Amino acid sequence: MKTLCFNEKNMELLLVNQTLLPNTLSYFTCKTTQDVIFAMQTMVVRGAPAIGVAAGFGCVLAANESLDAENWLDELNGRLTLLEAARPTAVNLMWAVSRMRALLEAKQPETCLKARDLLLTEALRMEAQDITICKKLGRNGAALLKDGDCVLTHCNAGALATAAYGTALGVIRAAVEEGKKITVIADETRPLLQGARLTSFELSRDHIPVTVACDNACALLMSQGRVDSVIVGADRIAENGDTANKIGTFGVAIIAKHFNIPFYVAAPLSTIDRALPDGSLIPIEERSRDEVASFAGKSILPQDVPAVNFAFDVTPAELISAIITEEGVLTPPYAESIAQAFSARS
Ligand code: MRU
Repeated sequence: MKTLCFNEKNMELLLVNQTLLPNTLSYFTCKTTQDVIFAMQTMVVRGAPAIGVAAGFGCVLAANESLDAENWLDELNGRLTLLEAARPTAVNLMWAVSRMRALLEAKQPETCLKARDLLLTEALRMEAQDITICKKLGRNGAALLKDGDCVLTHCNAGALATAAYGTALGVIRAAVEEGKKITVIADETRPLLQGARLTSFELSRDHIPVTVACDNACALLMSQGRVDSVIVGADRIAENGDTANKIGTFGVAIIAKHFNIPFYVAAPLSTIDRALPDGSLIPIEERSRDEVASFAGKSILPQDVPAVNFAFDVTPAELISAIITEEGVLTPPYAESIAQAFSARS
């Protein structure tokens, strides 16, 4: 199963339709930039690194749609601007589009066809790099897990949230590949159930033992000594280590602190937004009432009752034991360790 796949011959991006999992495994076809934006906004594709790679291919489709325009560069840039605004919190989206803009700026292609070729090569490179990075950060993080550990995770930071392998689930996969027996508790992750539907789907396919728990069972399970560590992904990490991730992550971190359980964030450096000094500046997506107001297709709220539906929250750096990246396991103070990781990479 590939989370995303670009068909060069037909100039189309195929995405596993994550809204239909675990019951149906099928692909959603994007032929235009607008299709990619729709796929991101409706959660056909989701998870910060997967959104970044999909955006890379979205730029190729944007060029493809601009081929016949006289002012092709303006049209292309207009489409990229729409694309990077599809979802506000996962910085990998803006990171991917900026990388494409910088490439066009550096290479100054004379025609849109040349621009499309350049963007396609870069998008394929981005996809391959995402897989290499996930495997590297997975190996770095695996050292933190002991044989027999039970890891609690929130949302889905797995193969489905990346080009392949995953970040938080990448760490678990790497530990299992080293021969450790690891079990996983996946929080169901209301309202869209990424943990119940996606994390359990991909781990069970890989024969990694996984149990789904209601989000509000976390404190009880930790009090019973059932959780050895927490590993989550990230949508955006500020310069000081404050981390935005799926709504509910902050609560899990507070409970883990109470029980002295290590709380790890696993993310590529592309998820770190060094332009933001702290997490209070991270834009938090607010989604529709409908997602909260219904369950399994049935309305669960009286019609006139509003719902609040923030998709992410920000876990303060002081609750995070370490940030696992492809450049190593970063420890507090994060402003320093993050700066070191970026200089080690360049
Ligand atoms: O709203 P989603 O499903 O896109 O949110 C995803 C998450 O919060 C993930 O934990 C995060 O993007 C990291 S994915 C490797």
